[in-house]
Amino acid sequence: MALLQAQLEAMLAQLPAGQRDLLAPRFFQHAPVLLERLRRLYGDSEHFAGWCQQLMQEVISLAGERPAALRAQDQSRSANKNWFGSQDMLGYCTYVDRFGGNLQGVMQKISHLQEMGVRYLHLLPFLRARDGENDGGFAVASYDEIEPKFGTMADLQALTEQLRAAEISLCSDFILNHVADDHPWACAAKAGDAAYQNYFHSFADYTQPARYEATLGQIFPQAAPGNFTFDTTLQRWIWTTFYPYQWDLNYSNPAVFAEMALALLRLANRGIEVFRLDSTAFLWKREGTNCMNQPEAHWILQAIRSIVEIAAPGVLLKAEAIVPTAQLPAYLGTPANAASAQINECHLAYHSSLMAAGWAALAEQNTDAIARVIQGTPALPDQASWLTYVRCHDDIGWNVLRAEMRGAENSDAIAQQRLAHVAQFYSGAGDSYARGASFQAADPSAVHGSVGMASALCGMSSASDQEEQLLARRRLLLLYGLALSFGGLPVIYMGDELAQKNEESYLHDPQKANDSRWLQRPDFDMAAFASRHDETTESGKIFSALLHLIRCRKDTAALSASAARNLIVTEAPQLLVFGRGHADDEGCVYFIGNFSGVAIDFALDVLHDKAAINGFTDLISGRVYSVATRCLKVEPYEQIWLRALTDRSAA
Ligand code: GLC
Repeated sequence: MALLQAQLEAMLAQLPAGQRDLLAPRFFQHAPVLLERLRRLYGDSEHFAGWCQQLMQEVISLAGERPAALRAQDQSRSANKNWFGSQDMLGYCTYVDRFGGNLQGVMQKISHLQEMGVRYLHLLPFLRARDGENDGGFAVASYDEIEPKFGTMADLQALTEQLRAAEISLCSDFILNHVADDHPWACAAKAGDAAYQNYFHSFADYTQPARYEATLGQIFPQAAPGNFTFDTTLQRWIWTTFYPYQWDLNYSNPAVFAEMALALLRLANRGIEVFRLDSTAFLWKREGTNCMNQPEAHWILQAIRSIVEIAAPGVLLKAEAIVPTAQLPAYLGTPANAASAQINECHLAYHSSLMAAGWAALAEQNTDAIARVIQGTPALPDQASWLTYVRCHDDIGWNVLRAEMRGAENSDAIAQQRLAHVAQFYSGAGDSYARGASFQAADPSAVHGSVGMASALCGMSSASDQEEQLLARRRLLLLYGLALSFGGLPVIYMGDELAQKNEESYLHDPQKANDSRWLQRPDFDMAAFASRHDETTESGKIFSALLHLIRCRKDTAALSASAARNLIVTEAPQLLVFGRGHADDEGCVYFIGNFSGVAIDFALDVLHDKAAINGFTDLISGRVYSVATRCLKVEPYEQIWLRALTDRSAA
């Protein structure tokens, strides 16, 4: 260890004995990986040893300041590190203002979360954001203050306490790739402070940006083309991957790493239990690449994970990396192998490929891409799990599926054609039932993303009779069923539980009109909520059916995150079939989903081959199928969760 054991022990000695005894073993377990990653990242910098020592001192101080209730939670979670993979973990994601008006209003909504069985609440950005346009709060002006219109730090702490009492973990965005252009660091840089100028990537002229641009992609090609913005005060080009007012941080500067790691720990001490690490793929820049998924970005995340393991081990890190399936698992670390020990990175990562593939399957009435995504989803390291979802506040980006959409022909052109069709389908092209809209694309031939509330994309807004309504409902439930049974932490996007519709009003707000993601950011519909138990309403029908799925999952150990998953290949491309749990285990469950508008026969023989099975029960309908049943009819967009009855379960 670069830092002398004696120095580290002296730092720990400053803590009260009880705390020191708990912290010291964690510290000595995780400090070696932390120091090793920091050396890889910053070992060449002139003052590395002193900087490291200072960072360790601050991490230990913040660990010492951690409130007793959170320390107790750290302890209990350390004894059950996979706590978030249980089949009763369920998430919910919403904007503070749209759901409850402000943080106090969110407290009033806890009973709604409890009714659904929610155990994790992701509130979209609520830290003080840039004045004016701020990308829904994703341009942060202070990591230590709450956005005034949402309340105060005291409100946040009160909310976290109430949520904790209700066994709900609060998840906050931690926007670590960039800050707002009115954040004090950006202001200091503009005022000429060289130390703060080095917090950002800036260039005297466009020569170097032009070289980078040659291989960079674009996130908002219409609203914010290019990756660099000329700052008239600084008279320099600033790296701005997203909007021009979101300045990318320069992680090659160790001061930036330390600032962000410590800001995260301070928020953890306020009671935030899960951090959604925003735009993790973009943290490190390298000329000649797309500046995504660079090894250094992973080392940064691994170092942050070690810091969390030391100072706040009950806290989870969740990666937002919207990248192709092949690049995704690395954000969850690497399982141990013959050559190396397990590498820990984030605890959770959005399975954006699975989400997009579910929608693609509905549009194509073909499950080929989901099957490929499942085949490309490896076993994960211990203490890591997927976050599964149907919709979120962002667009559905189809490009993550380029590899899976190449088809049997293994062709780029086919992938382009299929993705373009899917994207147009969700914009309502032709006779599509979907009522979404397109998100920005670089040019007319590029595949644009899709936006819209799930219900609108599933056909509820266009349904003109009961039959069409039924099909639309089944589609929405099918996608949620996939998220609930896949294995991971499934998250409901606010409003989906009530089949809420698109919100068109953003078009009249000049700060939002150029960003169609606002179409899916409605206010919580109080009228729909009031009628959630009235099954004559669309909201009531969805609410009760979704709750039923949630309860079926909660009672089924084979649907926990850690249970094995086996894709089962059938002859019907419209069907997705996979097993959870072990085939010879009494708890094994098979998901069978029909992603097409026609009924499909499913031959049960394919499952009989897997184990000595005496029959099946459909957990959703309660129907029992005897061993003599050879074939099931799967209705259009229907899903069946078959529990296999084996000798052991029958006994
Ligand atoms: C993430 C957020 C998105 C935001 C972007 C820039 O992708 O999900 O909403 O625009 O980061 O912060």
